[in-house]
Amino acid sequence: MRFLPSIRVLASAIFCFSASTSPTSADDDTKKCKLYLAKSTIPNAGLGVFTSINLFPNDSIGYGDPAIPIVDMDFHNDGSSSAEDYHWLLDDYNWKASAAGYFMEAEAEKTSAHVSGMGAMPNCHMRLKNIVESVNEYDTAGVTRGDPGIGAFTGYHNRKTFAIKPIEAGQELFVDYGKQWFLTRENDMGLVPLVESYPIATKFLDHFRLKDFLERLMFSRESEELMSDLWELIVRFPYKSRPQSALPKNLNTAKKAIERGIYQTELWQSTRSLDELERDGKCLDNIRPGNSTISGAGRGAFAARFLPKGSLVAPAPLLHVPDRDILNMYADKIDPFTQEEYRDFSKLTGRQLLLNYCFGHRSSSLLLCPYGFQTAFINHNGISPNAKVIWSTDSMYHNSSFLEQPVKHFDNVWRPFLGFDYVALRDIQEGEEITINYGAHWEQAWTAHLQSWVPPIGYEKFVPPQVLNADRTSPLRTFDEDETMYTDHIDLYCEFSNISIKKQKSEWDQDEFNTNDHKVYRILERTKNHEEGEPDYYLYTLDLLVEIDGNAEKFMLYTLTNVPREAISFYYKRYHSDMFVSGAFRHEMMIPDDIFPSAWKNIYLS
Ligand SMILES: *[C@@H]1O[C@H](CO)[C@@H](O)[C@H](O)[C@H]1NC(C)=O
Ligand SMILES: *[C@@H]1O[C@H](CO)[C@@H](O)[C@H](O)[C@H]1NC(C)=O
Ligand SMILES: *[C@@H]1O[C@H](CO)[C@@H](O)[C@H](O)[C@H]1NC(C)=O
Ligand SMILES: *[C@@H]1O[C@H](CO)[C@@H](O)[C@H](O)[C@H]1NC(C)=O
Repeated sequence: MRFLPSIRVLASAIFCFSASTSPTSADDDTKKCKLYLAKSTIPNAGLGVFTSINLFPNDSIGYGDPAIPIVDMDFHNDGSSSAEDYHWLLDDYNWKASAAGYFMEAEAEKTSAHVSGMGAMPNCHMRLKNIVESVNEYDTAGVTRGDPGIGAFTGYHNRKTFAIKPIEAGQELFVDYGKQWFLTRENDMGLVPLVESYPIATKFLDHFRLKDFLERLMFSRESEELMSDLWELIVRFPYKSRPQSALPKNLNTAKKAIERGIYQTELWQSTRSLDELERDGKCLDNIRPGNSTISGAGRGAFAARFLPKGSLVAPAPLLHVPDRDILNMYADKIDPFTQEEYRDFSKLTGRQLLLNYCFGHRSSSLLLCPYGFQTAFINHNGISPNAKVIWSTDSMYHNSSFLEQPVKHFDNVWRPFLGFDYVALRDIQEGEEITINYGAHWEQAWTAHLQSWVPPIGYEKFVPPQVLNADRTSPLRTFDEDETMYTDHIDLYCEFSNISIKKQKSEWDQDEFNTNDHKVYRILERTKNHEEGEPDYYLYTLDLLVEIDGNAEKFMLYTLTNVPREAISFYYKRYHSDMFVSGAFRHEMMIPDDIFPSAWKNIYLS
């Protein structure tokens, strides 16, 4: 089934859908682009993401996105990004770490998630929201603590997007960023209607009795024109409110809204024709993630369909970071008098992992970080890459006047205005891994890293938490057996929400621990449980640290018995996950010399 017949008939009345409704074969199905980047249907909202196929509730859309944790930005910059102490455009495009999964929240004191693709591009529409995103999974695609690539890429991947209602081909995809997002962006976006604005607008429409009015005035062209002017006067009235901006923008749409409701007219308006998408849109699902064919590289991006030489592999709008030093990370120092922690500017300890996902140049402090779909997975090939980046020729996401501006200019630019296109250097077959040349400076840095890399002590024995979590049958070690309780890098938590009633045969009262989880101080004892006709399983006695009144300094120690394996999970200790491995590789990709604008030169390195 390719179209929802009833909706399509109505939609074609407005948008003159072309005759592209003929059934297609399964073969065409992989050839056909299913997801497009095009101008949002929300005025002044920039880019939008559109489906070119019909979607049903729970359909998965596109491919899962990676997430890059960004930690303690304010601390390392001695300021606050919201107060604009330092230019951090990504603040607007990042998610709370919890949106990437609990696991990421535990990375550091303050973590946010840069989620490219679906996590950054779709717009928000409180009423028309039609997609939701899942949380990330974590694994390093076979790269271990003994490999030089460890910590050089994010292990967070596969954050999937799902339809939450039927979505017709051509419709724009909308997420819900929450009301607050609009309330804090009034200057930029104007008074965007909120959910509660619609009933008011609808009531107004009813009271206005437009329909009766029009009926009385039927056959009179002049008065209809007058009505139309009158309506525009109402919706353009300068004292704007959110319900007012929820009103249909012209008389024709207002008439339709009276018949079918404002919601339905907005649905029509949030749709672009398939012709329009094919002509003006950019395909977003030409590449899909997978395990890289390059040894030690982790994940890679693969052609999801045949990509002819010279064609677009992926569009990539770019977020600018005018001063790359804001990605520096420093040691902390404690003020002996106030006991407050602050950064020790003299001790650079590393750089944010994000650096590896941005482009820069030796003679500029400017970094450009793409947020394209799956582009973060594209690996380096210095000899025979099959793709490259060029400045996009599409003014939808690239304004070439910025290539002539000095870097200083970007300090006052709070929206992305630049874009790369990844293009095919030769024919690329479906399933081939996509590579670009990251540049000679990058390659030198990587070669030097390979030569100097020393795996962390004890790496041979290191078992990452995701592997420990996946193993539900091996007995867990007790404190007597392992005093470190699974190395100094790992914490154990007890997750109450995960205990099934059946196995909760216990001496403890769940209500007493009604928050989600608590740190396991140590496992004291393990007993094997044997029941007729059931596989054996272990139950544990453990000491639990429970925060008192949410005070992170004060704990009570509880001893729990009969805790099942399902309730126990492993996490990296703060600042101990793969990206914090000492000496993990950090280097930006290079903006190719032949496209690097001389106006951006501001620092001079050897
Ligand atoms: C979608 O998935 C949710 C959760 O798995 C389920 O409750 C719901 O019934 C599903 N809806 C449809 C239409 O399949
Ligand atoms: C990718 O590699 C990981 C780790 O080696 C493995 O578990 C996973 O199954 C691989 N995925 C695919 C699609 O081959
Ligand atoms: C590009 O940006 C400049 C400001 O730097 C602006 O004046 C111009 O209108 C923009 N061009 C387009 C096509 O948006
Ligand atoms: C807890 O339960 C959720 C949902 O069933 C599951 O996805 C998750 O893996 C569980 N966590 C642990 C540590 O078992």
